[in-house]
Amino acid sequence: MSLKKIKYWGASTSAHQVEGNNHNQWSIWELASANELSKSAPKRYGWLENWAEISKEAQDPNNYVSGVSADHYRLYKEDFDLAKKLNFNAFRFSIEWSRIEPEEGKWDESAIEYYKNYVRELRARNFEPFVTLFHFTLPDWFAEKGGFLYSKNIVYFTRFVEKIISEVKDVTYITTINEPGVYTFMSYMNGKWPPQEKSRIKTLSLIINLASAHKKAYKIIKKINPNCKIGISKNYSYFYTHNNSLEEKIMVKALDYLSNLWFLNRVKKHEDFIGINFYFSNRISGFRVRNPNSKVNDLGWDMKPQNLYQILVRLHSKYAKPIFITESGVADRKDVHRKWWIQQSLKAIDKAIAQGVEVGGYLHWSLLDNFEWADGFWPRFGLIEVDYKTLQRKPRPSALWYGEFISKIVNTKELK
Ligand code: BGC
Repeated sequence: MSLKKIKYWGASTSAHQVEGNNHNQWSIWELASANELSKSAPKRYGWLENWAEISKEAQDPNNYVSGVSADHYRLYKEDFDLAKKLNFNAFRFSIEWSRIEPEEGKWDESAIEYYKNYVRELRARNFEPFVTLFHFTLPDWFAEKGGFLYSKNIVYFTRFVEKIISEVKDVTYITTINEPGVYTFMSYMNGKWPPQEKSRIKTLSLIINLASAHKKAYKIIKKINPNCKIGISKNYSYFYTHNNSLEEKIMVKALDYLSNLWFLNRVKKHEDFIGINFYFSNRISGFRVRNPNSKVNDLGWDMKPQNLYQILVRLHSKYAKPIFITESGVADRKDVHRKWWIQQSLKAIDKAIAQGVEVGGYLHWSLLDNFEWADGFWPRFGLIEVDYKTLQRKPRPSALWYGEFISKIVNTKELK
C-alpha cells in the first residue's frame, strides 16, 4: 500500500473558526450582517434536502456570529489530547494576526507567548505543527487601510511574518496564505464575504498582491530559518466535461488555468511544497457548471473525492514538488458520508503515489465543528462534534475509524 509513504496524518483548523473571542474584520462584519444573513437563509438554503433540519439554526442570527465559537483558544490542550487519541502525528492551525498585532505596530507579547506554548504543547504530543499565517482574517486596522488590495500595504503583513517566525521558532512547515483564490473571489468578486465588493479590477489587484505577499514572506522566512518548508494552501476545483464537446473542453482548460494554475504558476519558484485543499468538482455542461449532484453534502456540494487522483497526478507532472493535502472534508452533521469521503480520498491518493506522486501528509478538514464563515455554525465539518452550548466534544464514528486507520498505517509494516 503506497499510503505508507505518507509521513504526516492529522487534521486542520483555522484560528477564527475555532478559537472564539477574536476581534478582526470578520468579527466586525458578523455583528453587522447577522440579521440580514438570518433573514435571507430560506433563499440561500431553502433548496437543500436537509432544510427542515437546519432551518431553525440557519434562521437564527446567532448562527452568524463567531462569538466564543468552539472556545479552542482556552480548550486547546484538551483538543490536542483528543487528537492524540485519534493517533494523529500532525496538526494544522493558523496564527491570528489580529491577536499578535491588535493595534498597528503594537505587539501583544502575551498572544505571542500563547502561540509559542501552543506549538510546545503540540510538540509534547509528538505532533508536527503546520502553521498558516493568513487564513482569511485581518486585523481591523489593516482591513481599514484596504488590506492586501494595495501593494504598499504588503509591508505590514511581512512585518508580522518576520516577527512571528522569529518568535515561534519551533515550526518547519508553513503555509503563508490559505486559499488566495477563494478569499479574493468571495470578498471582491461575488461580494459574499467582507468587505462585500464586486469589482473585477480589485479582484485582479488583490490576487496579484497576494502572490507578491507570499513571495516576500517566503524570502523573509527562509532568511530567519532556512530549514523551513514553505508553501500556500491552494483550493483546487476539479473541472471536467459533461459531453466531451469542444466548447466544454475549452471551458475546462480555461477554468482550470484561471482558478487552479494561474496562482501556482506565479509562486512556483517560491514554494517548497504545494498544499492542496480539495472539496469541489465542477462538471461543465455547455458553458455552465452542472453537477450531477447524485451524492451531495449538507451544503449541497457534489461529492467526488476520487477526482483527487487526477489533481495529484496533474500537479506532480506540472510542478514536481511534494504535495500535502492541507484540507479536504465534508459538511456532514449525521456523519453518513465522512468515512466514505476519507476512504475514497485515500484510495485516490494511494493510486497517485503508486504512480510516483510525492504526498507528504493528509490533514482532514476539520478536527472540530467550527464557524463556517458566512454560513455560520450550522454546517458541521468536524471529525469531532462540538456542542456549542456546553462546549462538550464528542468524536464522531468516522473520527474513530480514521484514528484506527492512521494507527494501522503508521504502525503496521505491511498493509494489504
Ligand atoms: C477553507 C476553510 C473552510 C473549508 C470548508 C476552505 O475553503 O480553508 O476555512 O471552512 O474550506 O468550506
